[in-house]
Amino acid sequence: MYLNSVIFVRKALVQFLMRIGIYPGSFDPLTNGHLDIIERAKRLCDRLIIAVARNSSKKPLFSIEERMDMLRACCDTGDNTIEVATFDGLLVDFCKNSDVSFIVRGLRAIVDFDYEYAIALLNRQLAPDIDTIFLMTKGEYSFISSNIVREVASYGGDVSSFVPQFVQQRLQEKLSS
Ligand code: PNS
Repeated sequence: MYLNSVIFVRKALVQFLMRIGIYPGSFDPLTNGHLDIIERAKRLCDRLIIAVARNSSKKPLFSIEERMDMLRACCDTGDNTIEVATFDGLLVDFCKNSDVSFIVRGLRAIVDFDYEYAIALLNRQLAPDIDTIFLMTKGEYSFISSNIVREVASYGGDVSSFVPQFVQQRLQEKLSS
């Protein structure tokens, strides 16, 4: 009984003290730019949830499971710092249920800013305690997006410098099927 109470209190304390960040997105597919942001975000929190959105307004190339599979294969999830998850509905609701302290979004160039700024303000309105932080990708990734990768790959172009090899293989398989 005493031991159970100690374990419970310790767990509650750890959860309270842990800084949990979330990096949400479509990841259709994962790019080297995403991986760069993941590496940077990892340094800022004790646990990083990479959350794949089930966004009904987009018609994705890869299924949710395929996208999560690519993330798990390309991110080091061994030390439990990174968790790959999926969510439905509002991001802030998922954040509240998962004790998330802050949302991470990547900025490639200034053109991303207006859109990201509006979403960050909206999320703050919905959940004032959850902040959004913006991380800049390396300059060499500043033009890479999942859209561009899908487009280039669909015409048979070389995407090897835009995505990890695992993703490149999955793109080849998907587009040749
Ligand atoms: O990689 P993306 O497509 O730019 O990611 C956008 C995403 C999934 C983070 C955003 O659309 C989102 O948070 N969707 C969940 C629904 C939601 O909370 N909408 C309100 C803020 S847009």
